[in-house]
Amino acid sequence: MSTQPDYSVIQWEIFNLPEFPHIPLRRAVTKDKHPQVPTIEPHVFTEEHLSEFATCVWPSDDGDPQPLLLSGPTGSGKTSFILQLAARCNVPVFRVNLNGGTTVRQLKGSLAVRDGATYFNPGVATMAMEFGGWLLLDELSAAVPPVAMSLFPILEPRGAVLLEQAQPVRCVTRHPHFRVFATDNTIGANMEAARFAYRGTNPDQNVALIDRFGGMCELTYLGQSEEFDIMLQKVPDIHDVVLEGLIRVANLVRDSEDAPPFSTRMVENWARRIAMGPYRELTTVEVNTKKYQSDPAFIMSCASGAFLRKQRTNEQRTIIQEIIVRIFGEA
Ligand SMILES: Nc1ncnc2c1ncn2[C@@H]1O[C@H](COP(=O)(O)OP(=O)(O)OP(=O)(O)O)[C@@H](O)[C@H]1O
Ligand SMILES: [Mg+2]
Repeated sequence: MSTQPDYSVIQWEIFNLPEFPHIPLRRAVTKDKHPQVPTIEPHVFTEEHLSEFATCVWPSDDGDPQPLLLSGPTGSGKTSFILQLAARCNVPVFRVNLNGGTTVRQLKGSLAVRDGATYFNPGVATMAMEFGGWLLLDELSAAVPPVAMSLFPILEPRGAVLLEQAQPVRCVTRHPHFRVFATDNTIGANMEAARFAYRGTNPDQNVALIDRFGGMCELTYLGQSEEFDIMLQKVPDIHDVVLEGLIRVANLVRDSEDAPPFSTRMVENWARRIAMGPYRELTTVEVNTKKYQSDPAFIMSCASGAFLRKQRTNEQRTIIQEIIVRIFGEA
């Protein structure tokens, strides 16, 4: 078993969350920071999601903790919600991106050879369970049925997870601070209409699998002023008027029926490209005024690199281009 950290928990000192002091979040006390504890970045949390998180992770009745499922469109902050809470709670995250090629052995562990001798190499779920970290199962719907089935005992608070490849065969010893989270783009009634957009997934994931999640958060994109504030923190060199325009574009695309999802990730990538400036040396005046940032041709070329070229159809690309022209003018 891996070394267990000095892992007593204390009442968390609130980070940027003065309005929710009643939500009992905790912070692990460790001598050294585990390398898999994420780095703190600016993040907007909502009370609704934090309460759901706290209810599942640290139930106030001291009963069994429950796995938490996060659903919502791409780039709505599902993965970063868990990573940013883990960063603030000082907990290592053991993350796996489920896909058609993910195997049960990658989760539980397999035999490996070193210096002519075999040994058991623990998988990501086993490491999280034994160390007492948070297991983050990204893209749950992409798990193939045998992998989905192997998750059942991992998701049950006292499920016995058998390590068939260990020598001798044994069950995982669960650390009391182990918790499980999963993210998904397709699960839940809110995602019904968008489901077809996420190929390579199994949206009709086994009901029994979903049933094992004791809680669920449905994430949506940030409101305009929150997205503006967070982008300004992440991309401080962006001109605020230009940033306002980018966020208006994002929201018009999100509101438009035939347009593809417009994620916060796309806004950030676009803003960063604009803030970096054109690929030539800038004069001091240009740097100081940031005027080049509002040039419609430059804005459109940054949009091409950030997301326009990646659109699936010409129609979708045209819808977004037209909205950009409406906000920033013709090149
Ligand atoms: N509430 C938020 N506060 C701060 N940043 C956010 C928030 N929501 C999303 N972002 C930013 O948007 C980007 C995408 O977020 P994230 O990767 O968490 O999305 P996701 O929902 O997991 O997407 P996917 O379904 O594609 O995996 C990140 O850069 C993240 O920091
Ligand atoms: Mg994600």
